[in-house]
Amino acid sequence: MSQSVQERLEEMRARALAGGGEKRVEAQHARGKLTARERVELLLDQGSFSEIGALMVHHSHRFGLEKQRIPGDGVVTGTGTIDGRPVAVFSQDFTVFGGSLAEAHAAKICRVMDLAMKMGIPVIGLNDSGGARIQEGVLSLAGYSDIFLRNTLASGVVPQISAIMGPCAGGAVYSPALTDFIFMVEGSSYMHITGPDVVKAVTHEEVSSEDLGGAGVHGAVSGVSHFSCTDDPECLARIRRLMSFLPLNNAEDPPLKPTEDPADRRSPELDSIIPASASQPYDIRKVIVPVLDDGDFFEVQEAFAANIVCGFGRLGGRPVGIIANQPAVLAGVLDIDASVKAARLIRFCDCFNIPLLTFEDVPGFMPGTAQEHGGIIRHGAKLLYAYCEATVPKLTVITRKAYGGAYCVLSSKHIRGDYNVAWPSAQIAVMGAEGAAKIIFRREIAAAADPVAEERLRIADYERQFAHPFIAAERGYVDDVIVPSETRPRLIRALELCSTKRDSNPAKKHGSIPL
Ligand code: HXC
Repeated sequence: MSQSVQERLEEMRARALAGGGEKRVEAQHARGKLTARERVELLLDQGSFSEIGALMVHHSHRFGLEKQRIPGDGVVTGTGTIDGRPVAVFSQDFTVFGGSLAEAHAAKICRVMDLAMKMGIPVIGLNDSGGARIQEGVLSLAGYSDIFLRNTLASGVVPQISAIMGPCAGGAVYSPALTDFIFMVEGSSYMHITGPDVVKAVTHEEVSSEDLGGAGVHGAVSGVSHFSCTDDPECLARIRRLMSFLPLNNAEDPPLKPTEDPADRRSPELDSIIPASASQPYDIRKVIVPVLDDGDFFEVQEAFAANIVCGFGRLGGRPVGIIANQPAVLAGVLDIDASVKAARLIRFCDCFNIPLLTFEDVPGFMPGTAQEHGGIIRHGAKLLYAYCEATVPKLTVITRKAYGGAYCVLSSKHIRGDYNVAWPSAQIAVMGAEGAAKIIFRREIAAAADPVAEERLRIADYERQFAHPFIAAERGYVDDVIVPSETRPRLIRALELCSTKRDSNPAKKHGSIPL
């Protein structure tokens, strides 16, 4: 290489590394944000990053852009490893044109997405961008569209993870929205379709960016994001943790993680966890955690629809997706948000060969006009559809209530559950004893000399007949009634058996899920 060529290369590389320059880097740090490259370094195994397209620049001559050609064009792209496993990554550089997206920037993102699809590796996008680069006009929109198409085609083929680590507004939100998981950083990130100014002009509402689309709102209210993180390093560490449960692509099994936690370990505390009264709450996490390897539970959408708990864990080293009614919140009832939250995790797990473990204690679907008018029928159907459609191993533990339609929906035997067990405290029935007795013995109760005493008798009778798991066990609707403390060993054995499971759905282009 001649001296001049080498110097030119070094100069270009130095400019690529410098991004938008010292001042803008300082401003980025002053906001509590890391730079695009610092983020990549923290996300990936040390020294594993191989950059692609560091020298790419835009070719625009409008609005003086020709005088600002910064190698890399505002996005750092390439591949690296997380715990030794390959991933593709892009990280928008807010210090270069505000991380705005245009032709070259989009082409770089598309390049790593294409590479990820060809190699069968996950894509992780770190978003920090002012949106479409205004000077490049429609070329920016074309770039977004190219990415949206790739997000959609990659869906269910390779895991796609988005972190929002700065602005993400307008149509730009739809790339993360098409991916499998969204992480947000509290205080420094936001996602919204239109900003506070447009909101004010159109609806006369005054709202800050944070209140409109910050991590708190999307983590707890809209359900758009899956993880809220306190700062950039925590966000990147949690992406690494999520990756530990996921396969690289849909043709792989999720990674085994050997554990010292014995497969035959019992959890004696579970034998006394169910309260004496069926209306008393308990925290379902106290059931989930002891059952999993090393008590390691990675919760998803913790603050959203807290009446259902979702997340990942491992049993005997094998990753599982967990869906559990939460009796401590709204008695664990299924409502619109809970249905959609769980359906999404189920479909993700089914795409990526991750078995499903369901803990069931559900009084039914949430009554009321808000839910009916909001479309609980349509949204609840998503959950039912997701469970029916899933062909991954499906294990279910009924801890207490399994009432009505919710019994059918929650991975019941009838919809291809592989291993369904109940604890002795299970009540598998059309509804709770009180409601049932009041309906079927209405006349008898009204005609009795002491209606209150009669009602109590009738409730007790219904309880005796139905508030237990034994009719379901007699019919084979549950495979066994198990002692709670034995839950972990039983599940591990069942999961081992399921490791050779083969099941499929009828050939079709795709189903028509009730959206
Ligand atoms: C070009 C942009 C830019 C953009 C920011 N910059 N956004 N350049 N196109 N969209 C540049 C700024 O000129 C500035 O350059 C640098 O990035 C940092 O921006 P600041 O405004 O100084 O930073 P800050 O005060 O933090 O504000 C950040 C911001 C604001 C809130 C993102 O820049 C902003 O509102 N930008 C415009 C957002 C926007 O309207 N985008 C288009 C949305 S429509 P210098 O040289 O001074 O450092 C859209 C449609 C997508 O995205 C459709 C997809 C289908």
